[in-house]
Amino acid sequence: MDNVKKTVFSGVQPTGKITLGNYLGAIRNWTPLQDEYNCLYCVVDLHSLTVAQVPAELRKNTMDLVALYIACGIDPNKSTLFIQSHVHQHAELAWILDTVAYIGELNRMTQFKDKSRKHADNINMGLMNYPVLMASDILLYQTELVPIGKDQTQHLELARDLAERFNGRYSDTFAVPEALTYKSGSSIKSLQDTSVKMSKSDPNENAVVSLMDDKDAIARKFKRAVTDCDTAVRFAEDKAAISNLLTIYSLCSGESIEKAEFRFAGKGYGEFKQAVADAVIAVVEPIQAEQKRLAADKAYLEGVLKQGAEQAGRLARRTLDKVYRKVGLVGRFR
Ligand code: TYM
Repeated sequence: MDNVKKTVFSGVQPTGKITLGNYLGAIRNWTPLQDEYNCLYCVVDLHSLTVAQVPAELRKNTMDLVALYIACGIDPNKSTLFIQSHVHQHAELAWILDTVAYIGELNRMTQFKDKSRKHADNINMGLMNYPVLMASDILLYQTELVPIGKDQTQHLELARDLAERFNGRYSDTFAVPEALTYKSGSSIKSLQDTSVKMSKSDPNENAVVSLMDDKDAIARKFKRAVTDCDTAVRFAEDKAAISNLLTIYSLCSGESIEKAEFRFAGKGYGEFKQAVADAVIAVVEPIQAEQKRLAADKAYLEGVLKQGAEQAGRLARRTLDKVYRKVGLVGRFR
């Protein structure tokens, strides 16, 4: 690891299907950072346990997501790619951070409130602690930049608060991280209801495009996507549905929003929606083929993950040792 380069950390939960929102708002932005920064990209399996999981499915989803990261362009020789539970320091630092986090601030997290509403029969402590574990992921590596979608910025704010509070109480220990969100794509909306984000857990299949959907499903979902009441293909605040589709089109085709507006001027929504679907299919098809090839190569993935856990573990140990010392724990005798 290069000590002069800044450190980048990010992760995705291996729950359900990875969406076009996860890709456009996060994963896609990770690859260009690999040359300039020390990047750590993590499959955050411990976070997934905050909602009920089928163990065999969680294991499969975790390995599938590792293959997907690589298929999306994460190069294990440039970045540290690993599974969160393989580095035990994540859970240990979370405990220490719990002792500086306040119940009041965790109670105010919008995601906690949302998820408590959605899973009223399972409001477990992990759900409340979720952002503390996320802060631990980030602070463990002295991370400076965290590329995420907009829905995670409140959690990032908490990570900053905890870092500053700990540093204030015990002297400088953690780098204070900053969110890296992009102007376009940081909040891709549901295709059925533009007041909510496109989300893995949406029960309405038509609302969500999965990165692993086949081309017929993608075309069908865009065809059924809600639109606005007029017929203009224009990006505007009062045209949330078409603006969302234009954003997706622009990010997938590489064409600017202005050029796209010009291209589809006077054309109907039908033609435009088909073009959005085609642009998405052109992006996801090669990713899907590569993901399937890699997912079948268990030996390769295991090698990547072994190396990733070793690299991450070395860095994590350094920070956790420092933290234990600062808070007054007696170091282990060897
Ligand atoms: P998760 O798994 O919900 O989502 C992964 C990433 O995808 C982004 N994202 C979106 N971006 C744009 N539009 C959308 N509709 C959309 N939906 C999701 C999320 O903002 C996120 O960047 N708590 C995190 C996982 C995590 C993490 C971390 C992230 C755990 N530890 C440390 C960064 C650093 C989460 O639930 O992501």
